Amino acid sequence: MTQYGVDLFLVLVLASLGLSALAIFVTFSRNRRQHARGSPPPGDDVASEAARKVLREFEKNGQSVDAALVSWSPETLRKILAEDLPDAQVIVVSNREPYIHNETEDGDVELVVPASGLVSALEPITRACAGTWIAYGGGTADRTVVDRNDRVQVPPGHPSYTLRRVWLSDEEYQGYYLGFANEGLWPLCHIAFTRPIFRESDWEAYEAVNRKFAETVVAEARNERPIVLVQDYHFALLPRMIRERLPEAIVITFWHIPWPNSEVFSICPWRERILDGLLGSSIVGFHTQFHANNFTESVDRFMESRIERADAAISYGGQVTLVHAYPISIEWPVELLQSLPSVEECRARVRRRFKIPAGAKLCVGVERLDYTKGILDRFHALEELFIRHPELVGKVVFLQIAAPSRGTLPAYKQLYEECLRYAEELNERYGSESYRPVLMVAEHHSQASVYEIYRAADICMVTSLHDGMNLVAKEFVASRDDEQGVLLLSTFAGASRELLEALIVNPYDAAMMSEAMLQALTMGSDEQHERMRRMREIVRDNNVYRWAGSMLLDAARLRKRGDLDRVTASYDRANGPAGDNVVSMFERKQAVGFR
Ligand code: G6P
Repeated sequence: MTQYGVDLFLVLVLASLGLSALAIFVTFSRNRRQHARGSPPPGDDVASEAARKVLREFEKNGQSVDAALVSWSPETLRKILAEDLPDAQVIVVSNREPYIHNETEDGDVELVVPASGLVSALEPITRACAGTWIAYGGGTADRTVVDRNDRVQVPPGHPSYTLRRVWLSDEEYQGYYLGFANEGLWPLCHIAFTRPIFRESDWEAYEAVNRKFAETVVAEARNERPIVLVQDYHFALLPRMIRERLPEAIVITFWHIPWPNSEVFSICPWRERILDGLLGSSIVGFHTQFHANNFTESVDRFMESRIERADAAISYGGQVTLVHAYPISIEWPVELLQSLPSVEECRARVRRRFKIPAGAKLCVGVERLDYTKGILDRFHALEELFIRHPELVGKVVFLQIAAPSRGTLPAYKQLYEECLRYAEELNERYGSESYRPVLMVAEHHSQASVYEIYRAADICMVTSLHDGMNLVAKEFVASRDDEQGVLLLSTFAGASRELLEALIVNPYDAAMMSEAMLQALTMGSDEQHERMRRMREIVRDNNVYRWAGSMLLDAARLRKRGDLDRVTASYDRANGPAGDNVVSMFERKQAVGFR
């Protein structure tokens, strides 16, 4: 071939590669745009099927799976369960139950859905898997609605899974929940400068309650191989207890709060027991890689173990535990948004209800009343804003919705009193008869009324001092189908790793926060739209089904690997150890169809 021929050939090859890349890019961005516009594009099911094939190709080639290629829905979860984990029973364990039955003053039974990110994330998953959810029955009428096996079908009206309630005595609740979990582990894991309190009697209650839940898991398991999704810091010992009773179970433990660095963790007098308990899991999940790394460092420091960093795995006591980051999210609220009034109507209602003067911008904060959430720091930033920009007095109202939580603990009582005092101080200093700059509403609100408040807000402030993820940030974004409103988000909340278009703030820096508030108050509609549109795209794509689906895919892989190990052992028993030559490994893999 002449030099000209070679050049022409190269040009043609490059051009065709370029065109293919362009075609892939155009298709991908069209899909993303279609997706971003709302309801799933036509043929979405076909698309998700195609995506699953790509996913399998990745797996076949031993590459890591890119969960971003899949369109995640309840249907995707059901398919994973049916195809990759056939006949697996899904059991969720958490302290907080998804539905609480309470007795009202006139003797009726009312239903409360608790204010908990964990509950709002797990509920759609359990519905999709038709699983069993085991939780502490803390409602005053909880016992009256269960059957003789302490079970009740939920959600009421459209039952799709079983809630199995576990009863705790006052002493158990005090020691395990209020004591060890919330005065010990909660402050230990959050950098909020509240000193953890560890008492031996609390530890004993914690251990006993974990054992009670382990027995309940065993009682609810229909076979030896359930998939148990253990939730949070209330159950650090439970994975090991389940492993001892059901060695073939897949135990996925998700730690919904941060994990501290190993030096802070070493404060806990029972640190080895906690790590040993968690290492009974097949997978331990965290919201961020940072917290996963902290956990691995703690194991490395305190346990006789082998850390396989390249595989994100820990080998301990003859068992392997994967340690991964799975950022949690919400279910995209299509039905809820359809049931709510327009943004204009929500604004009008909320402003009427809270007597917000016309012309004043509305800033909101919504959370459990907790010292990790930075509520006082928000008030501080507002004060700073008024000092620096006195012209804004009368033009901003801050509405704080705080669901009462763990209210019998001294740290929480003190926080509540301080919030009330500070709000009152600001109202006296900057308010008038017709204007109160801070409205502090310490009441539980239903999901629909919280969404109404999000939709009415000009600014939502999520200023946690430390937070695993924070789903309020994601809910606010999801609620704004008008693509308006500004999110101020703490850099110390896991959500700030994903929602980069928020105004990211340091809650300890009141001056900086007040400037961010000013930026939000004066932000033009186009910029709000651009930021909100991008954040909505991210939350819609990375929804809660992706969170659960990624864990279930990893669980399926582990199960296949476990099956392979068992077959390998029986092959070796029958044929004698074959050594590690390629042919025998290949034969062994063929024997179980392992890719
Ligand atoms: C927050 C945490 C969850 C935790 C929950 C418990 O939402 O992020 O990880 O499980 O609090 O709250 P509770 O009111 O049940 O103590």
